[in-house]
Amino acid sequence: MNNNGEIIRLLKEKEDFISGAEMANTLKITRAAVWKRINILREKGYTIEASPAKGYKLLKSPDLSIEEIRDSISGRSMIIGREIIFFDTINSTNTCAMELAEKGYPDGTIIIADAQTGGKGRLGRKWLSPQGKNLYMSIILRPAILPRDAAILTLMTAVACASAIKRISSIPASIKWPNDLMVSDRKLGGILTEIKADMDRIFHAVIGIGININLGASDMPDEIKACATSIKNETGNVLSRTKVAVEILREMDKWYSILLNSGKKPIIEEWLKLSCTIGRAVKVTVGNNVFTGIAGTIDEEGMLMLKLPDNTFKKISAGDVIILR
Ligand code: BTN
Repeated sequence: MNNNGEIIRLLKEKEDFISGAEMANTLKITRAAVWKRINILREKGYTIEASPAKGYKLLKSPDLSIEEIRDSISGRSMIIGREIIFFDTINSTNTCAMELAEKGYPDGTIIIADAQTGGKGRLGRKWLSPQGKNLYMSIILRPAILPRDAAILTLMTAVACASAIKRISSIPASIKWPNDLMVSDRKLGGILTEIKADMDRIFHAVIGIGININLGASDMPDEIKACATSIKNETGNVLSRTKVAVEILREMDKWYSILLNSGKKPIIEEWLKLSCTIGRAVKVTVGNNVFTGIAGTIDEEGMLMLKLPDNTFKKISAGDVIILR
């Protein structure tokens, strides 16, 4: 039972003062326990007014609240988010998730941080992770799929994130192969998948999700200003990170059960609908090689089928794509 989350729910439902006695009664705890939890919530950034005659009133919530994320998920039979671990600051939620996965944490465990000191991007890059602005979240998965199918986990996550962002922000988010979340030609978020596997099976996978939510242009270093964006940048509005996290977790849960029950096909179909890469002229950098062509489709292992000028196809498993026009 998540009593802190339930206290927030009661305060929110009431939209006015609610007495300590009423909360204690509803939650079947003592008034002293209510008071203790109110103080814990205050330490976590909630502004709660207390009046001896009237009780408690919620004035302001922090924009990233693990209690509210837990409360929004509890009661639903979800795999994703069955365990949620929060850090104010951590080096990388992915590194932490890989360590916890090694220790046996279950399928669907989530690690969220308010800031990362060593946020990791694809291809050994750094991921800008200032405090209080964005979403930094990693998910431990233990799917019974073959290692050669691991790319579907990244495609699935891209589908879940793009769908969630579209729903709550009305931004026309799309996916650039393999896993960049884009608005027009700017990057809004990215996904970093790490796996531990042998030839025959995946022991565990960690899917890292970074979404720029309330990052302002002034928070961006010059080298990413021209190519990065955030939800606030696109809409002009600050969006609650709690809402974005909850929506992504619900979408992740939906698509993960589709993967486990129906296989890869529905995910690839949805990925193709959300993609801004397919059918476009692209330049793809793979290590020291650069290929130019038309992005044909993705195959069932998530590889990009690039149509070269001589009309042959080249299968690309990893690389950086620039859309040419
Ligand atoms: C990319 O390069 O596009 C992938 C970026 C992934 C960033 C996220 S933030 C949460 C998680 N922890 C990390 O260190 N990286 C991922």
